[in-house]
Amino acid sequence: MGINSRKVVVVGCGFVGSSSAFALMQSQLFSEMVLIDADQKRAEGEAIDISHGMVFASPMKIYAGTYDDISDAAVIVITAGANQKPDETRLDLIKKNSRIMKSIVGEIKKREFEGILLIVSNPVDILTYIALKESGYPANRVIGSGTVLDTGRFRYELGEHLGVDSRSVHAYIIGEHGDSELAAWSDARVGGLPINDFCELRGHFDHDASMEKIFDHVKNSAYEIIARKHATYYGIAMAVCRICAAIVRDEQSIMPVSSLMQGEYGLEDVVLSIPAVVDANGIETVVPIELSEKELAQLKSSAEILKKIIKENS
Ligand code: 2OP
Repeated sequence: MGINSRKVVVVGCGFVGSSSAFALMQSQLFSEMVLIDADQKRAEGEAIDISHGMVFASPMKIYAGTYDDISDAAVIVITAGANQKPDETRLDLIKKNSRIMKSIVGEIKKREFEGILLIVSNPVDILTYIALKESGYPANRVIGSGTVLDTGRFRYELGEHLGVDSRSVHAYIIGEHGDSELAAWSDARVGGLPINDFCELRGHFDHDASMEKIFDHVKNSAYEIIARKHATYYGIAMAVCRICAAIVRDEQSIMPVSSLMQGEYGLEDVVLSIPAVVDANGIETVVPIELSEKELAQLKSSAEILKKIIKENS
């Protein structure tokens, strides 16, 4: 059927799916957006509501559809699944959400979809692995939103701490999108300077304490937000939009999406986030940034945690 690069599908119209759809409408990246939800009425309601904002953005077709509408889409964004309750971790969602993911991918597989699967539901690394295996698609076409959001949070926090535009901060959160993630401090730069040099330029000399504080803040962001408003959705919606832009505009942007490790850092058969070049084909290549020994050990332990869960659940 071929690919219509201006068409996106969002599966799951809960907080994350509908916020992503709303952000995608505003982004003007697409001219057609299909919303799919197990609750068809919910998808219809979101499609109508979001359509009413269109006159203030750009014309496009937004409708509640079915899996028969997906074949020519460039990207399918999967957000369906239960979300974290205040006392849960992302990994607690595994049983319920892996079942949902398998059934969605089963439906997709029945159609001749040739685009990119973007998995957002949690635990995102595990579900991306499941989507990859269930679909049988090549690894470049199955991407998880991974630590793109955590990296956004990290850059925001560093920008606030250093009094600098967060877009001038280049620093990654890598590994699991969850409790075992890590900050790749040794690679972090602000305006081209190694991060500690920039900190000193700004009068901050207590590096270890600041690094710990900032990273904890980033890692616990979702818990802090969920404790207050029971869900997180705007940040992830913007991250979804950013990843879709890299795909449909064939940008070759570098972002820490989650993807299948194929020997990088000695890791195999596990999906997690390290920076990757993202283009119209999904993952063009991963970028194995240099890590300190401690960071490498942390990344490996994050991979072990994910592998163990995959094993227990397959
Ligand atoms: C987040 O990090 C809960 O994964 C979601 O906001």
